[in-house]
Amino acid sequence: MKPLPFLDRPVIYAPLAGVSDYPYRQMSARYRPGLMYCEMVKMDPLVRYERNTFHMLDYEASMHPIGAQLCGSKPRLAKQAARIIEDLGFDVLDLNCGCPVDKVTKDGSGSGMLKTPELIGEILSEMVAAVDIPVTVKIRSGWDDNTIVTPHITRIAEQAGAQAIAIHGRTRQQGYKGDADWGTIKAAKEAATSIKVIGNGDIFDGYAAKRMIEETGCDAVLAARGTMGQPWIAEDIFSVFAGNEPKQRTIEDSRKALYEHFQLLRQYHTPRQILVDMRRIGCYYLKKSPHTREFRSLIAKAGSVQEIEDLILNFALEEMCV
Ligand SMILES: Cc1cc2nc3c(=O)[nH]c(=O)nc-3n(C[C@H](O)[C@H](O)[C@H](O)COP(=O)(O)O)c2cc1C
Repeated sequence: MKPLPFLDRPVIYAPLAGVSDYPYRQMSARYRPGLMYCEMVKMDPLVRYERNTFHMLDYEASMHPIGAQLCGSKPRLAKQAARIIEDLGFDVLDLNCGCPVDKVTKDGSGSGMLKTPELIGEILSEMVAAVDIPVTVKIRSGWDDNTIVTPHITRIAEQAGAQAIAIHGRTRQQGYKGDADWGTIKAAKEAATSIKVIGNGDIFDGYAAKRMIEETGCDAVLAARGTMGQPWIAEDIFSVFAGNEPKQRTIEDSRKALYEHFQLLRQYHTPRQILVDMRRIGCYYLKKSPHTREFRSLIAKAGSVQEIEDLILNFALEEMCV
């Protein structure tokens, strides 16, 4: 069994459905996180070799180490899907037990799996037996406040041979509201013997990452929304870990990064897709400025890729400095 690739660089970029696509990961790779994940893919279409699903798993050499995340609740499919992921050259295979969306949980997948911990163990065992790459699992802290399951599932995952468990310190019922409860990450770490624990929830800068490790004892941190518009967050976190101040980023740095991201989109997506994606992406990069709303409405009105380019290059960001 191969070892986890991120232990000497313990900062991971999360799977983000509808967000962490190929251009997003090209941007992320420039700042060398210890591992990055693709968007989650469902096991069923993967084993049916559906083209769109494979497309979501496209990657290039700069993105290594890279993980794929599978969502599904059928042990036999998990085994088949795991082999496909390994054959595609991924470095890590993750099982999604956190997705809160009704469409996913209704067949018992995603965070629905938190209600069937033994099934998580069964699926992980199938995956571990099927591949040599490390298998990990990502969970939420529980279904609701009355059912916090992190220590229990940590032990189950460890017994099944998973090498790491990522804990998002929010319950399924919580969605994305309120603060993540890092105590549930600490509880997982206390329950773990050999399995590594990855802490997740509310890491938006290097100081939060350091605090999470100090408060929970987790072995690595996983940033999700904190990577959106800040592809450099790994660099900032590593600076803080090394006892240094993170680099100050100006609004012009954000404009430059947005422009680079836009150029990567151009190489990968259709003009129509670029127009749609830029409504979202433009706002990530400029979210800390007071004129985001104005920028967003201009982007939403843009009718061509060229108009978007002009907007990124010429929008009066000087006024936007806070
Ligand atoms: C837009 C979006 C898409 C997400 N997609 C996934 C996904 O595909 N798989 C997954 O395990 N978690 C997914 N998550 C959850 C994040 O990986 C992470 O657990 C959560 O956002 C908490 O971390 P944060 O507070 O750093 O954002 C998603 C979150 C967001 C906001």
